[in-house]
Amino acid sequence: MKNFVQIETEILNKLHNANDHNSLELLKTEVFGKKGILTELFKKIGGLEQNEKKEYASKLNELKQKVTGFIEKKFIEFDQLEIDKKLKNEKIDITLPGRTFFSGKIHPVSQVIDEVTSIFSEIGFSVEEGPDVENEYYNFSALNTPDNHPARDMHDTFYLDKSKDLLLRTHTSPVQIRTMLKSKPPFKIIAPGRTYRCDSDQTHSPMFHQLEGLHIDKNINMGHLKGCLYYFVKKFFEVDKVRIRFRPSHFPFTEPSAEVDIGYKIENGKIKIGEGDKWLEILGCGMVHPNVLKNVKVNPKQYQGYAFGVGIDRLAMLKYGINDLRAFFESDIRWLEFYGFDPLDVPANYRGLSR
Ligand code: PHE
Repeated sequence: MKNFVQIETEILNKLHNANDHNSLELLKTEVFGKKGILTELFKKIGGLEQNEKKEYASKLNELKQKVTGFIEKKFIEFDQLEIDKKLKNEKIDITLPGRTFFSGKIHPVSQVIDEVTSIFSEIGFSVEEGPDVENEYYNFSALNTPDNHPARDMHDTFYLDKSKDLLLRTHTSPVQIRTMLKSKPPFKIIAPGRTYRCDSDQTHSPMFHQLEGLHIDKNINMGHLKGCLYYFVKKFFEVDKVRIRFRPSHFPFTEPSAEVDIGYKIENGKIKIGEGDKWLEILGCGMVHPNVLKNVKVNPKQYQGYAFGVGIDRLAMLKYGINDLRAFFESDIRWLEFYGFDPLDVPANYRGLSR
């Protein structure tokens, strides 16, 4: 039998032949594998005389440790060499142009809905929604607008069936009805959403957006309506002073009714809100008509309040200087790139809505 010194030399010579990680791996199997040199030697322990066993086993273990240590060291060396080689070859060309990527933009209408929602939620309004396809009752009758009422013609309704029962809602006011039927007063809600009228020119689109507001409680009066709208306009246009005009008007579902104009002027081709002597209509409003309250089983002697309906697209046009409403819905990506908002800049009152 070869002695251990001989075997050790033999193994180490073999291992010295390895010149990279893979060849070392192969040689390792030749030593430790199923039929490896050392494995074979370990198998022999069983057949030895009792007196030889102890010395043989301990020498063999010593050898095993030496060889293992050697192999591990070699592996580390090879791996280090490999890394060095890679680092040498992998140069980054910092003169190459960067990879471009396109991030989406938030549409001005979505942005304005978020801004308006943020403003009203701070003063206690919660958000309600209603369907785009409405029936005649919610859109008209319940809102004190009976059949043959001239207001029905004014709305240029898109009807969806011959009996004129299903229609595309012409305003967000039906959400008032749905909200009040659903629970008990007090109510303090806003309802943004899509609305439809058969109309199209530079300032009218057959689909547009409104935001409804409704506040019903005991002892709510027109002063509350004025205060609320002043607050809203100042916050939304981010100005300290604003001129607002309440012009008498008529809506079947409010009494008295008013349309609200805000003062503005054009300076260097740009619109300035809150100054000047020009007026622009932005919303309709009024005190909710007792008949409407009766229709939703709210006692008008106990409860009353105000409602308003703002044109969201118009707010967006005014605040962000966009002059053609139709472009809003043409889905031209270049338009959106220009007028859109950064998705991560979520509107918030505390840091300026339109940062
Ligand atoms: N619904 C009305 C419209 O579309 C606006 C409005 C809402 C007026 C609420 C008064 C109260 O013109």
